[in-house]
Amino acid sequence: EDGLHASHYPWDHQGFLNTFDHASIRRGYQVYREVCAACHSLDRIAWRNLVGVSHTVDEVKEMAAEVEYEDGPDDNGEMFQRPGKLADYMPKPYPNEEAARAGNAGALPPDLSLIIKARHGGCDYVFSLLTGYVDPPAGVEIREGMNYNPYFPGGAISMARLLFDGLVEYPDGTPATTSQMAKDVVTFLNWAAEPEHDTRKKIGMQAVIILSALTTISLYVKRFKWSLIK
Ligand code: HEM
Repeated sequence: EDGLHASHYPWDHQGFLNTFDHASIRRGYQVYREVCAACHSLDRIAWRNLVGVSHTVDEVKEMAAEVEYEDGPDDNGEMFQRPGKLADYMPKPYPNEEAARAGNAGALPPDLSLIIKARHGGCDYVFSLLTGYVDPPAGVEIREGMNYNPYFPGGAISMARLLFDGLVEYPDGTPATTSQMAKDVVTFLNWAAEPEHDTRKKIGMQAVIILSALTTISLYVKRFKWSLIK
């Protein structure tokens, strides 16, 4: 059974020429880190990817250094722990799938790197899912440990509602309502799935301008050259 169709929301980055709202990506990273990262990995994003997108290089170095990474083997063949650096990838919440399922009553929290691309409805779907938890309608039984969410195909999802007003505190002063946090984390995850998005649109526009100019020039030259033949 399909989930409820998500409404369409006016995302800042949708449309021909619109680039991401980078302040929203920054807040969304905070929501990912403080909330989602407890269960969801983000395997395709390295610390360095955040530089110049949501944070400065110094901020990212500091954030990376707060995480311990296993490295090695060293000269004695031993593995060792060291602080993270820009080239490291986002730390995983669980060492493997068994541990992830054990921590979630058998369900597997998917990696979020490409989730916006992987799910039908993209941003609208994930936003609706995060903000769409309601009581099950009369007559619908939800198993112990499952949660009712009409946007999730089948209606019963093992992820509980996580976002509640005021859950995080945004340093930029934006009120952290449920829908604001959902919007920000979805914007962040859309960036993660499509880091080339802004460049693609800028280059696309340049291509349109250059190709129009070349077309205009060639039409003009053609008329000029052929004018003798008439
Ligand atoms: C599934 C997003 C936090 C546990 C999912 C899905 C998304 C998502 C998009 C996939 C739904 C689908 O398959 O269509 C998020 C976001 C979070 C968050 C953006 C932070 C705001 C968490 C946390 C936990 C968790 C903290 C653990 C306590 C799970 C589990 C599933 C899941 C177990 C699989 C659900 C199932 O297949 O029944 N999440 N999640 N999530 N999430 Fe989260």
